[in-house]
Amino acid sequence: MIQFKNVSKTYSTGTDALHDVSLQIDKGEFVFIVGASGAGKSTFLKLIMHETTPTSGEIIVNGQNLNKMKRRQIPYLRRTMGIVFQDFRLIDKMTVFDNVAFAMRAVGAPPSVIKKRVPYILDLVNLSHKAKSKPSELSGGEQQRVSLARALVNNPSMIIADEPTGNIDPELSYEIMQLLIAINKRGTTILVVTHEHELVHSFPKRVVEIDRGRIINDTGKIDD
Ligand SMILES: Nc1ncnc2c1ncn2[C@@H]1O[C@H](COP(=O)(O)OP(=O)(O)OP(=O)(O)O)[C@@H](O)[C@H]1O
Ligand SMILES: [Mg+2]
Repeated sequence: MIQFKNVSKTYSTGTDALHDVSLQIDKGEFVFIVGASGAGKSTFLKLIMHETTPTSGEIIVNGQNLNKMKRRQIPYLRRTMGIVFQDFRLIDKMTVFDNVAFAMRAVGAPPSVIKKRVPYILDLVNLSHKAKSKPSELSGGEQQRVSLARALVNNPSMIIADEPTGNIDPELSYEIMQLLIAINKRGTTILVVTHEHELVHSFPKRVVEIDRGRIINDTGKIDD
Protein backbone atom coordinates (compact mmCIF):
# COMPACT_ATOMS: atom_id res chain seq x y z
CA MET A 1 0.00 0.00 0.00
CA ILE A 2 2.89 2.37 0.84
CA GLN A 3 6.39 1.80 -0.47
CA PHE A 4 9.46 4.02 -0.13
CA LYS A 5 12.47 3.17 -2.31
CA ASN A 6 15.66 5.02 -1.33
CA VAL A 7 13.80 8.22 -0.60
CA SER A 8 15.67 11.37 0.37
CA LYS A 9 14.26 14.81 1.01
CA THR A 10 16.35 17.95 1.20
CA TYR A 11 14.33 21.14 1.68
CA SER A 12 15.24 24.25 -0.33
CA THR A 13 16.89 25.61 2.83
CA GLY A 14 19.43 22.78 2.59
CA THR A 15 18.00 20.80 5.52
CA ASP A 16 18.40 17.08 4.96
CA ALA A 17 15.09 15.93 6.42
CA LEU A 18 15.13 12.31 5.19
CA HIS A 19 18.02 10.26 3.91
CA ASP A 20 17.79 7.06 1.85
CA VAL A 21 14.61 5.78 3.46
CA SER A 22 13.22 2.46 2.22
CA LEU A 23 10.27 0.65 3.74
CA GLN A 24 7.00 -1.00 2.95
CA ILE A 25 3.72 -0.71 4.80
CA ASP A 26 1.03 -3.19 3.82
CA LYS A 27 -2.68 -2.63 3.69
CA GLY A 28 -4.24 -3.05 7.12
CA GLU A 29 -1.08 -2.44 9.13
CA PHE A 30 -0.91 -0.27 12.24
CA VAL A 31 2.40 1.59 12.44
CA PHE A 32 3.78 3.94 15.07
CA ILE A 33 6.36 6.42 13.76
CA VAL A 34 8.60 7.65 16.56
CA GLY A 35 11.67 9.85 16.84
CA ALA A 36 12.94 13.10 18.33
CA SER A 37 11.69 16.53 17.29
CA GLY A 38 13.10 17.37 13.86
CA ALA A 39 13.86 13.71 13.05
CA GLY A 40 11.78 13.80 9.86
CA LYS A 41 8.48 12.24 10.97
CA SER A 42 6.16 14.91 9.55
CA THR A 43 8.24 15.04 6.37
CA PHE A 44 7.72 11.30 5.99
CA LEU A 45 3.93 11.74 6.27
CA LYS A 46 3.90 14.76 3.95
CA LEU A 47 5.63 12.71 1.28
CA ILE A 48 2.98 9.99 1.55
CA MET A 49 0.14 12.49 1.13
CA HIS A 50 2.00 14.22 -1.70
CA GLU A 51 2.14 17.49 0.18
CA THR A 52 5.81 17.65 -0.68
CA THR A 53 7.94 15.72 -3.18
CA PRO A 54 11.15 13.74 -2.65
CA THR A 55 14.52 15.02 -3.83
CA SER A 56 15.34 11.48 -4.93
CA GLY A 57 13.86 8.01 -4.70
CA GLU A 58 10.42 6.59 -5.39
CA ILE A 59 7.21 6.57 -3.41
CA ILE A 60 4.35 4.26 -4.28
CA VAL A 61 0.95 4.69 -2.64
CA ASN A 62 -2.10 2.60 -3.55
CA GLY A 63 -0.11 1.17 -6.45
CA GLN A 64 0.66 4.60 -7.91
CA ASN A 65 4.10 6.10 -8.30
CA LEU A 66 3.77 9.58 -6.81
CA ASN A 67 6.63 10.94 -8.93
CA LYS A 68 4.49 10.31 -11.97
CA MET A 69 1.22 11.51 -10.52
CA LYS A 70 -0.42 14.44 -12.23
CA ARG A 71 -1.47 17.39 -10.12
CA ARG A 72 -5.14 16.83 -10.91
CA GLN A 73 -4.90 13.27 -9.52
CA ILE A 74 -3.78 14.43 -6.08
CA PRO A 75 -7.32 15.07 -4.74
CA TYR A 76 -8.22 11.45 -5.56
CA LEU A 77 -5.16 10.22 -3.67
CA ARG A 78 -6.13 12.36 -0.67
CA ARG A 79 -9.66 10.98 -0.68
CA THR A 80 -8.27 7.59 0.30
CA MET A 81 -6.63 9.22 3.32
CA GLY A 82 -7.93 10.58 6.58
CA ILE A 83 -5.33 13.07 7.69
CA VAL A 84 -4.82 14.45 11.18
CA PHE A 85 -2.41 17.38 10.84
CA GLN A 86 -0.01 18.29 13.61
CA ASP A 87 -1.32 21.85 13.39
CA PHE A 88 -5.02 20.76 13.09
CA ARG A 89 -5.90 23.01 10.12
CA LEU A 90 -9.48 23.58 11.19
CA ILE A 91 -11.62 26.27 9.62
CA ASP A 92 -12.19 28.89 12.26
CA LYS A 93 -15.29 30.49 10.76
CA MET A 94 -17.13 27.17 10.93
CA THR A 95 -18.58 25.30 13.88
CA VAL A 96 -17.19 21.95 14.97
CA PHE A 97 -20.14 20.26 13.24
CA ASP A 98 -19.47 22.09 9.99
CA ASN A 99 -15.75 21.45 10.09
CA VAL A 100 -16.51 17.75 10.05
CA ALA A 101 -19.48 18.04 7.68
CA PHE A 102 -17.32 20.06 5.27
CA ALA A 103 -15.11 17.02 4.66
CA MET A 104 -18.22 15.04 3.70
CA ARG A 105 -19.65 17.79 1.50
CA ALA A 106 -16.31 17.96 -0.29
CA VAL A 107 -16.77 14.39 -1.49
CA GLY A 108 -20.42 14.92 -2.40
CA ALA A 109 -22.12 13.10 0.47
CA PRO A 110 -25.90 13.74 0.59
CA PRO A 111 -27.20 16.01 3.40
CA SER A 112 -29.28 13.21 4.92
CA VAL A 113 -26.17 11.06 5.34
CA ILE A 114 -24.15 13.99 6.73
CA LYS A 115 -26.86 14.72 9.29
CA LYS A 116 -26.55 11.22 10.73
CA ARG A 117 -22.86 10.58 10.31
CA VAL A 118 -21.39 13.77 11.82
CA PRO A 119 -23.10 13.38 15.24
CA TYR A 120 -22.05 9.73 15.29
CA ILE A 121 -18.40 10.61 14.69
CA LEU A 122 -18.45 13.54 17.16
CA ASP A 123 -19.77 11.14 19.78
CA LEU A 124 -16.94 8.72 18.98
CA VAL A 125 -14.35 11.38 19.89
CA ASN A 126 -16.37 12.65 22.89
CA LEU A 127 -17.22 16.00 21.39
CA SER A 128 -20.99 15.95 20.95
CA HIS A 129 -21.37 18.77 23.48
CA LYS A 130 -19.12 21.06 21.40
CA ALA A 131 -20.82 20.61 18.04
CA LYS A 132 -21.89 24.26 17.91
CA SER A 133 -18.60 25.74 19.12
CA LYS A 134 -15.98 27.34 16.91
CA PRO A 135 -12.45 25.88 16.96
CA SER A 136 -11.10 29.04 18.65
CA GLU A 137 -13.44 28.33 21.57
CA LEU A 138 -11.94 24.89 22.18
CA SER A 139 -8.95 23.59 24.10
CA GLY A 140 -5.97 22.19 22.17
CA GLY A 141 -7.04 18.62 22.92
CA GLU A 142 -10.58 19.33 21.76
CA GLN A 143 -9.32 20.85 18.51
CA GLN A 144 -7.18 17.81 18.02
CA ARG A 145 -10.23 15.57 18.39
CA VAL A 146 -12.17 17.64 15.84
CA SER A 147 -9.26 17.09 13.50
CA LEU A 148 -9.46 13.36 14.21
CA ALA A 149 -13.25 13.34 13.65
CA ARG A 150 -12.75 15.03 10.28
CA ALA A 151 -10.15 12.41 9.34
CA LEU A 152 -12.49 9.53 10.25
CA VAL A 153 -15.74 10.79 8.83
CA ASN A 154 -15.36 9.62 5.23
CA ASN A 155 -14.26 6.14 6.23
CA PRO A 156 -10.85 6.38 4.49
CA SER A 157 -8.77 3.31 3.63
CA MET A 158 -5.84 4.80 5.52
CA ILE A 159 -5.48 7.20 8.41
CA ILE A 160 -2.37 9.33 8.74
CA ALA A 161 -2.18 10.99 12.10
CA ASP A 162 0.60 13.40 13.09
CA GLU A 163 0.69 13.49 16.89
CA PRO A 164 -3.07 12.90 17.33
CA THR A 165 -2.62 12.77 21.09
CA GLY A 166 -0.05 15.57 21.45
CA ASN A 167 -2.39 17.90 23.31
CA ILE A 168 -4.51 15.35 25.11
CA ASP A 169 -4.21 14.07 28.68
CA PRO A 170 -2.92 10.50 29.12
CA GLU A 171 -6.27 8.88 29.81
CA LEU A 172 -7.94 10.34 26.75
CA SER A 173 -4.81 9.60 24.67
CA TYR A 174 -5.22 5.97 25.56
CA GLU A 175 -8.87 6.08 24.52
CA ILE A 176 -8.05 7.77 21.21
CA MET A 177 -5.44 5.12 20.52
CA GLN A 178 -7.95 2.38 21.31
CA LEU A 179 -10.35 4.02 18.91
CA LEU A 180 -7.68 3.96 16.17
CA ILE A 181 -6.97 0.32 16.95
CA ALA A 182 -10.67 -0.54 16.66
CA ILE A 183 -10.76 1.22 13.28
CA ASN A 184 -7.63 -0.66 12.25
CA LYS A 185 -9.33 -3.98 13.13
CA ARG A 186 -11.91 -3.21 10.47
CA GLY A 187 -9.12 -3.10 7.89
CA THR A 188 -8.05 0.55 7.81
CA THR A 189 -4.31 1.13 7.56
CA ILE A 190 -3.13 3.44 10.34
CA LEU A 191 0.05 5.50 10.64
CA VAL A 192 0.51 7.38 13.89
CA VAL A 193 3.34 9.73 14.73
CA THR A 194 3.84 10.08 18.44
CA HIS A 195 6.36 11.25 21.01
CA GLU A 196 4.78 9.21 23.76
CA HIS A 197 6.85 6.13 24.47
CA GLU A 198 4.46 4.96 27.17
CA LEU A 199 1.63 4.89 24.69
CA VAL A 200 3.69 2.96 22.14
CA HIS A 201 4.66 0.39 24.77
CA SER A 202 1.00 -0.09 25.73
CA PHE A 203 0.13 -1.42 22.30
CA PRO A 204 2.00 -4.25 20.57
CA LYS A 205 2.18 -2.65 17.14
CA ARG A 206 4.85 -2.08 14.51
CA VAL A 207 7.23 0.73 15.46
CA VAL A 208 9.40 2.59 12.96
CA GLU A 209 11.99 4.83 14.59
CA ILE A 210 13.44 7.75 12.67
CA ASP A 211 16.61 9.50 13.81
CA ARG A 212 18.06 12.47 11.95
CA GLY A 213 16.35 11.47 8.72
CA ARG A 214 17.16 7.77 8.81
CA ILE A 215 15.19 4.73 9.90
CA ILE A 216 17.23 3.32 12.76
CA ASN A 217 14.73 0.72 13.96
CA ASP A 218 11.77 -1.10 12.46
CA THR A 219 10.05 -3.96 14.24
CA GLY A 220 8.56 -4.95 10.88
CA LYS A 221 5.02 -6.07 10.24
CA ILE A 222 3.25 -7.41 13.31
CA ASP A 223 0.46 -9.91 12.79
CA ASP A 224 -2.27 -10.13 15.36
N1 LIG B 1 9.06 23.33 4.90
C1 LIG B 1 10.29 23.16 5.40
N2 LIG B 1 11.33 23.87 4.92
C2 LIG B 1 12.58 23.70 5.41
N3 LIG B 1 12.90 22.82 6.38
C3 LIG B 1 11.91 22.09 6.89
C4 LIG B 1 10.55 22.21 6.45
N4 LIG B 1 9.79 21.36 7.15
C5 LIG B 1 10.61 20.73 8.00
N5 LIG B 1 11.89 21.15 7.85
C6 LIG B 1 13.09 20.68 8.58
O1 LIG B 1 13.24 19.29 8.29
C7 LIG B 1 13.61 18.56 9.45
C8 LIG B 1 12.56 17.49 9.73
O2 LIG B 1 11.35 18.15 10.06
P1 LIG B 1 10.01 17.38 10.40
O3 LIG B 1 8.92 18.39 10.47
O4 LIG B 1 9.85 16.27 9.45
O5 LIG B 1 10.37 16.81 11.86
P2 LIG B 1 9.45 16.01 12.91
O6 LIG B 1 10.14 14.72 13.17
O7 LIG B 1 8.05 15.95 12.44
O8 LIG B 1 9.57 16.93 14.21
P3 LIG B 1 8.45 17.27 15.35
O9 LIG B 1 8.43 16.08 16.26
O10 LIG B 1 9.03 18.47 16.04
O11 LIG B 1 7.16 17.54 14.69
C9 LIG B 1 13.77 19.59 10.56
O12 LIG B 1 15.13 19.93 10.65
C10 LIG B 1 12.94 20.76 10.09
O13 LIG B 1 13.44 21.96 10.58
MG1 LIG C 1 6.27 16.81 13.10
